[in-house]
Amino acid sequence: MAHEHKYTALPGDDDHPNPDVPRSSSTGQRHGLILALIASNVVLFACLFALGMHQSTLVRWRGAKPLYSPVQDIITYENVLFPKPQDKSKYHGPPTDEVDQAWIDLYDLGMSAIPKSQATRLPNRTEPFSAGSDTYLVSLTVFHNLHCLNMIRKSLWPERYSQAHRYDVVHDIGGDYIFDHLDHCVNSLRLALTCAADITPHIWRWNEKSQQSTGRSNVVHTCKNWDAIHEWAERTRITTHYNYTTHVLDDLVFPDDQ
Ligand SMILES: *[C@@H]1O[C@H](CO)[C@@H](O)[C@H](O)[C@H]1NC(C)=O
Ligand SMILES: *[C@@H]1O[C@H](CO)[C@@H](O)[C@H](O)[C@H]1NC(C)=O
Repeated sequence: MAHEHKYTALPGDDDHPNPDVPRSSSTGQRHGLILALIASNVVLFACLFALGMHQSTLVRWRGAKPLYSPVQDIITYENVLFPKPQDKSKYHGPPTDEVDQAWIDLYDLGMSAIPKSQATRLPNRTEPFSAGSDTYLVSLTVFHNLHCLNMIRKSLWPERYSQAHRYDVVHDIGGDYIFDHLDHCVNSLRLALTCAADITPHIWRWNEKSQQSTGRSNVVHTCKNWDAIHEWAERTRITTHYNYTTHVLDDLVFPDDQ
């Protein structure tokens, strides 16, 4: 029957062995192939292991090695569904005392004190908190950026918030200059947004009612766990006065030391 000859077994198709190829030869070829695969896998894993040992960050990050942060070990990731544009949160306007408090609770934790063992791992020198305390001052960029966002929020409601803090004269070694705090904040956020770059795609969906497709931003984003970061800042915040005009010397050495 002609149709029987149209069938050609696929390699490894044991139910229908190809009658043209002797069975023993097929098995021998397969064993050779499996041995070759095992050998190449052993070599591959050895290479990956060696790479992992020496260049794990390069493999993972495809770029510059992330610089040390004292919170790097507490960072975990979670998937978070962002709200619809019409969903209001406690941070939304119009401003009230409760809205102001929500913003304060979000970021206003002051400076953190980290142990000397962490300060010495920073890429740059930071000041000791006080003589003999063995802790050092840091503040995470995200808290500065939230302060900046709050300043911009307040500038939207000038009838409630004073604009007196917007301009300051800054005394610097490069000479005095006028510091436009709000403009600085806009640019800090611009840098933060392009630096962290949330790459979650927004989507478009057809709407039967309005007979058009509309963009949607309420999709799931992969986020750093904010609670863990906030708890770290609460746990490490300095609660006693820091004296900006006392210079505490220490024995740490950094590349940017003069
Ligand atoms: C450390 O600080 C100096 C001076 O501000 C700067 O030039 C350098 O790039 C900093 N290094 C890092 C890793 O931030
Ligand atoms: C801060 O330090 C300066 C210089 O050491 C000192 O004169 C001043 O009294 C200190 N201020 C406070 C509030 O401790």
